[in-house]
Amino acid sequence: MNTNRVILLITIIVLVLLGCNSPLYNDEEPTYSIIPNPVSVKVQDGNFSLNNSTQILALGKDVLPLAKMFADELNNFIGIDLKVIEKNVRYSKNTIIFKIDTASLGILGPEGYKLQVTPKKIIVLAPKSQGLFYGFQSLLQLLPINNNSSNCKFSNKEIDRNEWKIPCLDILDYPRFEWRGLMLDVSRHFFSKEFVKQYIDELSKYKFNIFHLHLSDDQGWRIQINSFPRLTEIGAWRVPRMGKWWSFQPPQPNEKATYGGFYTKDDIKEIVQYAQERFVTVVPEIDVPGHSLAAIAAYPHLSCTKEDYKVNPGSRFYGVDNNTLCVGQETTFEFLDKVFSEVADLFPSEYIHVGGDECFKDFWETCNFCMKRMEENGLSNTDELQSYLIKRVEVILKKKGKKLIGWDEILEGGLSPEATVMSWRGIDGGIKAAKMGHHVIMTPNYHTYLDLYQGDHIIEPETYSLLRLENCYNFDLVPPNVNEEYILGGQGNLWTESVPNSRHAEYMTWPRALALSEVFWSPNEKREWNDFIRRMEVRFNYFDKNEINYARSVFDAIISGIKGTDDSLKVKLRTEISGLDIHYTFDETNPDKFSPKYEGIPLYIPKGASQIKVRTYRNNQPVGNQINCPLNMLDQRIEK
Ligand code: ACM
Ligand code: ZN
Repeated sequence: MNTNRVILLITIIVLVLLGCNSPLYNDEEPTYSIIPNPVSVKVQDGNFSLNNSTQILALGKDVLPLAKMFADELNNFIGIDLKVIEKNVRYSKNTIIFKIDTASLGILGPEGYKLQVTPKKIIVLAPKSQGLFYGFQSLLQLLPINNNSSNCKFSNKEIDRNEWKIPCLDILDYPRFEWRGLMLDVSRHFFSKEFVKQYIDELSKYKFNIFHLHLSDDQGWRIQINSFPRLTEIGAWRVPRMGKWWSFQPPQPNEKATYGGFYTKDDIKEIVQYAQERFVTVVPEIDVPGHSLAAIAAYPHLSCTKEDYKVNPGSRFYGVDNNTLCVGQETTFEFLDKVFSEVADLFPSEYIHVGGDECFKDFWETCNFCMKRMEENGLSNTDELQSYLIKRVEVILKKKGKKLIGWDEILEGGLSPEATVMSWRGIDGGIKAAKMGHHVIMTPNYHTYLDLYQGDHIIEPETYSLLRLENCYNFDLVPPNVNEEYILGGQGNLWTESVPNSRHAEYMTWPRALALSEVFWSPNEKREWNDFIRRMEVRFNYFDKNEINYARSVFDAIISGIKGTDDSLKVKLRTEISGLDIHYTFDETNPDKFSPKYEGIPLYIPKGASQIKVRTYRNNQPVGNQINCPLNMLDQRIEK
């Protein structure tokens, strides 16, 4: 063997040995856990070590505030206070660079970014600040959460407590849809300005860019309107109740309305600005002509019946109290003009949501004004009367330079010319509107309603219906045969009839909103359920660290009934996620890992058993909640 060959051989041996000791990254061993999953990630060998002497460099117009925000986040997150510099100095190593590169607009689009991590430096590059913001969110998600390798593949010996290792990689990323929304209903229950800001901050981390604020409903009016002060003096307050929504006792004579609240104009400005700093547009909704009892309680002349009603506390009232604006009287349109004009002045959003859902129209049929309006305008039914109102609201909004959005009921009596439709009763309204050439936001209740149960109702706080995490995730916003161009995007909606406080709002939001963020942002080929669950569990560490409430329902067993060929009812068990064992008992004892394990074969019910108790385990540790299911409930759980 000549000398050259010996050197070559030694080099190869050294390289192989080095390779064994350094972290090896490949597609099979994911080293990152970003939600929503980026469009393209190329993992490289090695890592960048973030430490006290890392500096942050802001390059380009308006980049400094963002770089400072990143430094603050980093400080909050890992307690490291990095210097932010702006000068275009020579940067050689240990630098995180934020750079605007307008030339990349063609490849990345207005919200896209590139993120490159090398051992020497990290570069976040985007054509606009919004992309830089998303790049920095992805970068934050690459950090180990407790510096104990919880989301990066580093062995313990590689961890220095003063150094945070970020895997080397190249990310190219941009959203699939431009409307990535979450809605919070602040009417049924009121949420403080502080919580609203915190909620916006959290949703912006997953690249949501729309925060839809449902500001008015039968149970409370939540925004100061100078032209109509009673909206907040009276309309923002209801009698306090707890228990089961829709079964609450109606307001009693002389009972004080002490539950509620509203946002002043200054509060709204503060919320809007806070959201803007996070590239979130706040879209206000004033829900008309139905769902208007709070406004009518404040100004009884707005309804056909003109009676005095109380703001509803969550008791049944439909058909008794009139929660619908009268369309026959011009005073209603004077009201709408002033309210929507003040709202338009407060919110920079190009869209304003006008509701239009679930309007109870019976009172119109016995109202002389409404009947006259229909006659004079050749309207043949009350759906068309609602459309008449929505069309006039569209004109009001247009004068203010705003576009109208409504729930899909606005299709029923004829769509106003430029309306955008939010399809909530499934996707049919969305399909119809898109085929008519209107823009659509998909929010079908069975994929996006965050107020529904997310696990077994036996152990979850009271609400109704069911939307499991898997059904949030397995959703494509674009139905077959619909032109994607018309689908602006999607939105998760958190109605708050059964959400009495902010901790529970978080519980209902997370992790389902994580799943939706990926549906709205990532290309379909980058969506994979098992990998999403892996990444979601990393976010759970983040939620724990930051004391954000979230549901672990996805770890629970799912209990259903199944009819055998002999017509006997058997119990079928499954889990939403793979890799869990389900242990069960029929004998009233609480199951543990020594109890029988479900092997995928439906279970005969032992004679005399009254309930099945189940609990999930992973690696012999309990991970789910115990569910005790009475067997007489099984026939309501037959799998279809
Ligand atoms: C709605 O859920 N009523 C839009
Ligand atoms: Zn009327």
